[in-house]
Amino acid sequence: MAKIVYITRRETFAAAHRLFRPGLTDEENYELFGKCSNPNWHGHNYTLEVVVAGEVEPETGFVLDVKKLKEIIREHVISKVDHKNLNLDTEFMKGLNPTSENITIAIWNQLAGKIPNGKLYAVKLYETENNYFEYRGEE
Ligand code: NI
Repeated sequence: MAKIVYITRRETFAAAHRLFRPGLTDEENYELFGKCSNPNWHGHNYTLEVVVAGEVEPETGFVLDVKKLKEIIREHVISKVDHKNLNLDTEFMKGLNPTSENITIAIWNQLAGKIPNGKLYAVKLYETENNYFEYRGEE
């Protein structure tokens, strides 16, 4: 039986977005997306949690160095979303409606294959304190 440890790294970022479907009027988008469809943008303070799962390496006592995990998340995600407009500025969100669901999947895709030890287990995104969105890869 493998002894699996789950490591969570938390980061925060602030970003602007607008939820909308092209081709719908502002009123129709408001019906679908509420305040998040404001044509002149608005922001959220997001909290991101990245969970890596793996076995402890006997040589180091680590699954992976948490400092390295922090650097990977900052390089591939935070630097591309913090104080950005997710509709306009963030390459990995191009063509996606920036709902929390879509942001969560896109962040997973950004990190997939970049974790040197252990494996990416979950990406959790909090848009407010009261709800979070979690993705664990394709099933
Ligand atoms: Ni919003």
